[in-house]
Amino acid sequence: MSAAAQLIDGVALSRQLRSEVATRASALKAKGVTPGLAVVLVGENSASQVYVRNKVKACQESGLHSVLEQYPATTSEDALLARIDALNRDPAIHGILVQLPLPAHIDAQKVIEAISPAKDVDGFHVSSAGALMVGQAGFWPCTPYGCMKMLDSIGYELKGKHAVVIGRSNIVGKPMALMLLQKNATVTICHSATADLKAMTLQADVIVAAVGKLNILTADMVKPGAVVIDVGMNRNAQGKLCGDVDFDGVSQVASHITPVPGGVGPMTITMLLVNTLEAAEKVALVN
Ligand code: GUN
Repeated sequence: MSAAAQLIDGVALSRQLRSEVATRASALKAKGVTPGLAVVLVGENSASQVYVRNKVKACQESGLHSVLEQYPATTSEDALLARIDALNRDPAIHGILVQLPLPAHIDAQKVIEAISPAKDVDGFHVSSAGALMVGQAGFWPCTPYGCMKMLDSIGYELKGKHAVVIGRSNIVGKPMALMLLQKNATVTICHSATADLKAMTLQADVIVAAVGKLNILTADMVKPGAVVIDVGMNRNAQGKLCGDVDFDGVSQVASHITPVPGGVGPMTITMLLVNTLEAAEKVALVN
């Protein structure tokens, strides 16, 4: 059997990055600006409730101010837009996050577009997406941004490498591909209509799996020595939290792999803290 892959530990990397956030946050506080995040949750989705609680807790632990606004599933789109408008004007709030998914009667994209781009710490506004696309400064979506930090942490040089992204969501797959491209990787995006996924992944030096399907990537689909980043969050038949990657098999072939849990998940929240801090630093600069 070949040697097991090295783990890219998202918990350890997060600890390091969050301590840098805490240091910068306290420097800002000394100038009279406390970075503040508003987290808005509409409805009773139980997974979303866990996510937002973790986001608020992470803010508190890094010395950021945070407010959690919870509204019933019956909240109207107009009422939600009015709250966003108020948060856009609130000087104590530097970042606004509306947890997705929203109830079906609310147009999620319309709500996202209502967030001021200066406070769009999720990076989902079209203006943030457009900035990423053309290589201008703007907020990057937290999950792919966290994946890039994980590649940085192992000193990985993307220039000239072939990166295969599995998944084309606006939140992960598409921005992930753009970030890899910006670092001069050759990028292939695969999705549910890809004819031969294995033929693509076997060519990859880096694979990012972001589909939400158990075992979408197995050992026979991975070139020896590839780096594998697992964005998936699934439950197996035993109820255990698992990614999209068959970890036991793939870790025998890959050079580096991210675990689930303890990989990309904590990095997503870490990059939210970074984005919120940077939103506040920009405000502090102009005041
Ligand atoms: N739902 C699943 N992931 C995310 C995320 O990163 N941000 C928000 N706002 N909602 C999500």
